[in-house]
Amino acid sequence: MAYEVKGVVARSKGAPVTVETVVVPDPGPGEAVVDVQACGVCHTDLHYREGGINDDYPFLLGHEAAGVVSAVGEGVTNVAVGDFVILNWRAVCGQCRACAKGEPWYCFDTHNAAQKMTLTDGTELSPALGIGAFVAKTLVHSGQCTKVDPAAPATAAGLLGCGVMAGVGAAINTGGVRRGESVAVFGCGGVGDAAVAGAKLAGATTIIAVDIDDRKLEWAKRFGATHTVNSRETDAVEAIKGLTNGFGVDVAIDAVGSPAVFEQAFYARDLAGRVVLVGVPTPDMQITLPLIEVFGRGGAIKSSWYGDCLPARDFPMLVDLYRQGRFPLEEFVSETIGIDDVESAFEKMHAGDVLRSVVVFDT
Ligand SMILES: NC(=O)c1ccc[n+]([C@@H]2O[C@H](COP(=O)([O-])OP(=O)(O)OC[C@H]3O[C@@H](n4cnc5c(N)ncnc54)[C@H](O)[C@@H]3O)[C@@H](O)[C@H]2O)c1
Ligand SMILES: [Zn+2]
Ligand SMILES: [Zn+2]
Repeated sequence: MAYEVKGVVARSKGAPVTVETVVVPDPGPGEAVVDVQACGVCHTDLHYREGGINDDYPFLLGHEAAGVVSAVGEGVTNVAVGDFVILNWRAVCGQCRACAKGEPWYCFDTHNAAQKMTLTDGTELSPALGIGAFVAKTLVHSGQCTKVDPAAPATAAGLLGCGVMAGVGAAINTGGVRRGESVAVFGCGGVGDAAVAGAKLAGATTIIAVDIDDRKLEWAKRFGATHTVNSRETDAVEAIKGLTNGFGVDVAIDAVGSPAVFEQAFYARDLAGRVVLVGVPTPDMQITLPLIEVFGRGGAIKSSWYGDCLPARDFPMLVDLYRQGRFPLEEFVSETIGIDDVESAFEKMHAGDVLRSVVVFDT
């Protein structure tokens, strides 16, 4: 028996999202249905709505979620009905080239549910990042469910499902931040502040937050920023050099995803430093750099998908650190909202009024 629940749908490029009835099938082999308790509004949802990811409308938005497994299909052994889980978009296959090389965080063939959720007229929905969780029940592959300590509130835990993990992992996994290093994070939204918190967790001693909005810079200090730079008012590269004995940082993280910011990150690092791109660019964006600068500065230019995380390894670890008071997960939650408020949450995100609005469901 399929379920009918309300969900947030983006029907066409740039159009405001609408709340529609979504048909969720019973889980097939290897699948699970999860009662979503909370789902954060990530900038990537807005990218989907604006056509910045692909044109596979209609999208079922939402992908930063936690909830309780309510049904499992044949052959599911990793989770059971009643388990508290964070949804992930990296259910590793164990068989692709990356997995075979022992690098499953790059898995090229991650699992999603085989069946489709639909509108009531049968139109298939494209779930954001293979999840789709601005909906009271969602269908996923069981590997997309990562069991964590149920004592963690869903509003905070769900954020590990995307933005917070992406930011923390950009610092500690992709950037490989080590004790005593200096780090600059460009763009202090949910992802950037998570990178700041990740750098602190890794023991960085200088953590420079860069944003164009003073409120964001103030918030970044809560997560561990030791210095702040307003790049609308100051030359960010010069300011960062000034804070690092004229050299630049060991790791520069672009959590915006625009050519101008990437260029700042590129030039703001020390010789042999690492540049990490975690912000998502749109397909039209181009960058030109003198090749001699790419060569002469050495180091590495890396992009970070989902913080190069392994959900089964990293989610429970971050929930434990949070429960021990060593990782400020709750600080990312600016407000809780209802399913009808996603469009206005996009506006607040755009205006810089929130770090994360989190949709909560009555269960
Ligand atoms: N790589 C991944 O796996 C992954 C995962 C989640 C999100 N993302 C991407 O990360 C980016 C950030 O997401 P978010 O949810 O934190 O967004 P957000 O809108 O909450 O934050 C963006 C921040 O960047 C700041 N900003 C904008 N232009 C700037 C500029 N020119 N210089 C400095 N700061 C600037 C804004 O003031 C804001 O504080 C998005 O592109 C999102 O799609 C990537
Ligand atoms: Zn794989
Ligand atoms: Zn996201």
